[in-house]
Amino acid sequence: MPNHEEIYRREADQYDELIARQSSMLQYVSEIRALEGLDVIDLGAGTGRLTTVIAPNVKSITAIDASSAMLKLTSDRLREAGLTNWSVLAGDHRQLPLEDNCADMIVSGWSICYVCSSMHEDWRSNLERVIGELKRVLKGGGTAIIFETMGTGYETPHPPDFLTSYYAELSNVYGFNHKWIRTDYNFVNVEQAERLTTFFFGDELGDRVAREQITHLPECAGIWWRTFD
Ligand SMILES: C[S@@+](CC[C@H](N)C(=O)[O-])C[C@H]1O[C@@H](n2cnc3c(N)ncnc32)[C@H](O)[C@@H]1O
Repeated sequence: MPNHEEIYRREADQYDELIARQSSMLQYVSEIRALEGLDVIDLGAGTGRLTTVIAPNVKSITAIDASSAMLKLTSDRLREAGLTNWSVLAGDHRQLPLEDNCADMIVSGWSICYVCSSMHEDWRSNLERVIGELKRVLKGGGTAIIFETMGTGYETPHPPDFLTSYYAELSNVYGFNHKWIRTDYNFVNVEQAERLTTFFFGDELGDRVAREQITHLPECAGIWWRTFD
């Protein structure tokens, strides 16, 4: 499996080329809560998949990520769009560089998993810290929306084993609602599909893409959401 930390430090452009092959997630966020007038935070914003589509619809958005290289793409894109209601900040999910009660909504896409995977001995206390930060930073009645993987290359949910305990705690301990969606990739051709899937998901999936001549690769994601008093 490729080293994702290294990818987020050195290969932000190629990560962005991969996720550009998926549809916008805006509808899923606005179905949960209307965006107009909100102050929003995007945790683990990366190259801005969520931030850039939410920004035109809200009062303000703050994109936070551990990788400044990823955030550079987000800020370039927001500037190119002529938007001024945004800021980007380097930071960690477990200790957000933000004041208490400053946001109406927090979104986080495919990111909290990096500190809550059961491959980390301290995943459960990390999750407790992250949820504590969500509560601290959200205003009363604020909404948290978390997207995470439910399996790439599958048409129905196949969450990786090392994430199932984290997902179960979101629902059973922290009271999140849950549903799953398809987040398929539509590649331009097999060469692009093989190159980008190998880059991010590794040889096993890349080899399957080449062998089966795949340009439409199915993927599932989970959405967890709740309101905090
Ligand atoms: C798979 S990318 C997702 C990026 C973006 N949310 C998206 O939907 O495309 C994961 C991101 O989480 C960030 N990340 C990983 N661990 C983090 C942490 N502990 N605190 C903040 N960001 C983190 C990485 O730097 C990377 O940009």
